[in-house]
Amino acid sequence: MKALLETLRPGDPDRKLAESIDPLRLPAHIAIIMDGNGRWARQRSLPRVAGHKAGVDAVRETVETCARLGIGALTLYAFSVENWKRPRTEVETLWRLLRFYLHRELDLLQENRIRLSALGRIDALPAIVREDLEECCSKTAQNRGMRLNLAINYGGRAELVDAFNRILDNARRDGSLPVLDVDEDLISSALYTRDQPDPDLLIRTSGEMRVSNFLLWQIAYSELYVTETLWPDFRRAHLLRAVADYQKRDRRFGGLTASEDDEQLVEVAGVRKA
Ligand code: FPP
Repeated sequence: MKALLETLRPGDPDRKLAESIDPLRLPAHIAIIMDGNGRWARQRSLPRVAGHKAGVDAVRETVETCARLGIGALTLYAFSVENWKRPRTEVETLWRLLRFYLHRELDLLQENRIRLSALGRIDALPAIVREDLEECCSKTAQNRGMRLNLAINYGGRAELVDAFNRILDNARRDGSLPVLDVDEDLISSALYTRDQPDPDLLIRTSGEMRVSNFLLWQIAYSELYVTETLWPDFRRAHLLRAVADYQKRDRRFGGLTASEDDEQLVEVAGVRKA
């Protein structure tokens, strides 16, 4: 948070927003469904790929803001397993933009001590994209600041399939298959996000009310925040507003709030509240 405030001059309207955020109750992990690039382009009579290109600037600003704010992990949905159905030229442009981002932003990632990881079926990517991605991940692997996860060729169901197969393979290898006992911890430990906390906050841009096969297991208790803003227009202020909104939520994880808990204890003890 301190790092973010240092970059905001006193008159900057984002400063007030940043100051309204409690640094002790930040979401540990934010996940974002970056949606609306195509509509952004259409509104300007531009080709769809122009929306993706503009979306890269939103990625840059969001990554930097989250890192400076002190967010532990940020996961961006960049390419789903279903996105292969798009025209070949659009898919190729997305790969080009991803490579452009990786080359251009490596310094920014290093300066902010950001560790990059890729979530998804990375083996199926074009070799050149995979190589750039792996290189950037390994160059930042020692960084101990924010984790930046790019979900690429990612699907929530595919991740679960991969997790179950990983569990079975391990059990076959170590001979524990006949007595395999599956529980939630075992499944979590086999996901692509195995060493990271579940997202506290899931943001979706462009107003669509869908989770689109994103982090299906991990978002069980995430707070959802949907904004009408199209991804290429998403800026620091939008991110800060989402975090401020998250801090107003009453997270119950299926239980009761602390005050309701007290109330129930009083009732169980047979004492009426005044
Ligand atoms: C969804 O908008 C967006 C995508 C499928 C791609 C997201 C990619 C980027 C933001 C750029 C490259 C990414 C990185 C990480 C550098 P849409 O095309 O579905 O929009 P629409 O619903 O308005 O058509």
